[in-house]
Amino acid sequence: MERKIKYAIIGCGSFGGMHIEALLQTKDIEIVGLCDVHKEFAEEKNEKYALNAACFSDYNEMLENIEADIVVVATADHAHKDATVAALKAGFNVMCEKPMALRSDDCREMLLAEKESGKLLMVGQVCRFTPAFVRAKQIVESGILGDIFFAEGEYAHDYATIPGVDKWRMHPDREPILGGGCHSIDLLRWLIGDPVEVTAYSNRMVLKDWPISDATIGIMKWENGTIGKIFTSIGCKRDYTMRTCLYGTKGTLIFDNTSPEMSLYLEKSAEGAPFAGGIIYGNGSERTMAHRIKVEINNHNLPGEHKAFRDAVICGKSLVMTGLEGAKTVAVCSAVIESAKTGNSVKVNYDFGV
Ligand SMILES: NC(=O)c1ccc[n+]([C@@H]2O[C@H](COP(=O)([O-])OP(=O)(O)OC[C@H]3O[C@@H](n4cnc5c(N)ncnc54)[C@H](O)[C@@H]3O)[C@@H](O)[C@H]2O)c1
Repeated sequence: MERKIKYAIIGCGSFGGMHIEALLQTKDIEIVGLCDVHKEFAEEKNEKYALNAACFSDYNEMLENIEADIVVVATADHAHKDATVAALKAGFNVMCEKPMALRSDDCREMLLAEKESGKLLMVGQVCRFTPAFVRAKQIVESGILGDIFFAEGEYAHDYATIPGVDKWRMHPDREPILGGGCHSIDLLRWLIGDPVEVTAYSNRMVLKDWPISDATIGIMKWENGTIGKIFTSIGCKRDYTMRTCLYGTKGTLIFDNTSPEMSLYLEKSAEGAPFAGGIIYGNGSERTMAHRIKVEINNHNLPGEHKAFRDAVICGKSLVMTGLEGAKTVAVCSAVIESAKTGNSVKVNYDFGV
């Protein structure tokens, strides 16, 4: 029998718990260490899931005392950088939650630590494993939409009742376009490439006691002429959504993370093409045909994310969500934040020196 892959987790709050549940769906893994500054959270999870892991309040102490293949960093966002660098330097592969860090400079430090350690760093931009988004990627790559001339992403999630343990979501550097909007930005980057310039506006009209804006719009352009926008709201009164629209010269695709169907509009002449299976035909306009594509709803496909990382760490397979990809997403978020603060258009700096 092959040996079990050993994990340790730093940050045992709500999403740390979801990581544990995702890992426990795989029989060939073992969770050997749990750490949280509130050690009781680590102990509670240890007991709840009968893990028999060693529990710590200080991750440096944990890193010195455990043997593991992969360390998962699921702390508050502002603690990602130090915990990830410490784990890489201690010789562990690291899966770090999104956003990779709150600043591009922090990402640079993390990428350097990855390079020097010879270990692997993955960032948990989980949208790259969401079924509707994976399907969208296949559709874009098939070319059936033609050239994308406009792309629109949205991250709307009411945070009023979820400030996080010790209110970390209210950290003054955790602008919503970075903390949550990084999902939509990463998704657009993955689907259609890297925007080169952004212009942004922010306001705070709902969460008035928070020290950050609660709504941001970032308008973007791509080298090939595509234009687009990303909207983020953390005060909105509605269900959570990451609605995304891609407008191409031959078709339009509309999808999100919580619906069982995606909408695809194609010129009638392109009708059916490679998507006949699994499509229900609906009414379109005179010149377009509307298609509904059924998809599994799996908003947080953490098992898929962990499998991809294990395949990379253990089998050397290529990784869809590297540390550098996580850093590039932070670079776009940082440009949006700078533009909203200064009122100027900002070119995105993707240079991380690696
Ligand atoms: N991928 C997703 O869709 C998704 C969804 C939710 C949260 N997240 C991310 O997961 C992370 C955790 O979010 P959450 O909802 O579990 O928050 P949470 O507040 O429930 O838990 C965070 C935990 O981290 C602990 N912590 C903070 N600093 C620490 C440190 N230096 N060392 C050890 N523990 C520390 C806190 O005590 C807390 O228990 C965040 O980065 C968040 O952005 C990702």
